[in-house]
Amino acid sequence: MQVITKLAELRQQIRELRQQGKTIAMVATMGNLHAGHIALIHQAKTLADIVIATIFVNPLQFGSGEDLEKYPKTLSADKEQLTNAGCHLLFAPTDSEVYPHGRDNQTIVEVPATSNLYCGTSRPGHFQGVATVVCKLYSMIQPDIAVFGEKDYQQLHIIRQMTQDLSIAVEVIGSPTKRNAGGLALSSRNGYLTADERSRATALYKALQSTKHQLKLGFSDFPLLCEQAQTQLEEAGFKRDYFVIANANTLMLAQPGDIKLVILAAAYMGAARLIDNQVVSL
Ligand code: PAF
Repeated sequence: MQVITKLAELRQQIRELRQQGKTIAMVATMGNLHAGHIALIHQAKTLADIVIATIFVNPLQFGSGEDLEKYPKTLSADKEQLTNAGCHLLFAPTDSEVYPHGRDNQTIVEVPATSNLYCGTSRPGHFQGVATVVCKLYSMIQPDIAVFGEKDYQQLHIIRQMTQDLSIAVEVIGSPTKRNAGGLALSSRNGYLTADERSRATALYKALQSTKHQLKLGFSDFPLLCEQAQTQLEEAGFKRDYFVIANANTLMLAQPGDIKLVILAAAYMGAARLIDNQVVSL
């Protein structure tokens, strides 16, 4: 696997690949890779000739008091995993390569309406940071396809809208969430959990599953279902962030009669803020 850190070198490489008629899939990550990321690489390999992964811990999407400084950096293990997965190229730029005028002087991409809901309420500015860096990575790599995990449902929704709104010729593909045997969604932030917290954290998946089950049975008092789920989570040792039932297409709170729903949840277990979701078709 080729590793590039400089934008000029990346651009030269992309030009050569394009001259050879190769199609390109991008898998953007912040490193600290796990089986969920590797599944994205495998999926990307089925969709394009060349897979370019990026590792960049994007400072723009971290708020003050968040885990930017302690975000795990595991570059050599990440390289090994990417190589074993058959990734063709890794782009791992520095902050100044991505934000040459500094993060405070960066032009920002903001997707209205959905960016300030749910995770956007708990993490103000987060989705502006995500939309901005993904837009920049698109323009650096110019991929045909970009593959993102469905675990970050709101992020995927925002990236799809940004791609469409800015008429960017990238096909955005969502990849199913990878889970451990207990149902816990794989996430870099699971590394912050103790063994005991990790086993209690499976309550998040269970709460989503039981809410999904009740929706399927026809229960339509959405606030009540969410409150019951929050209680279940607290009993398992979670602290509340949000648990909502939304329209899967608009992300606005679901209304009775909506037929495609998504249950979106975030909650704190020890030092980790975990997110997960379940799509429900009625
Ligand atoms: O999901 C992530 O890891 C990040 O938000 C992303 C898409 C790589 C942008 O920094």
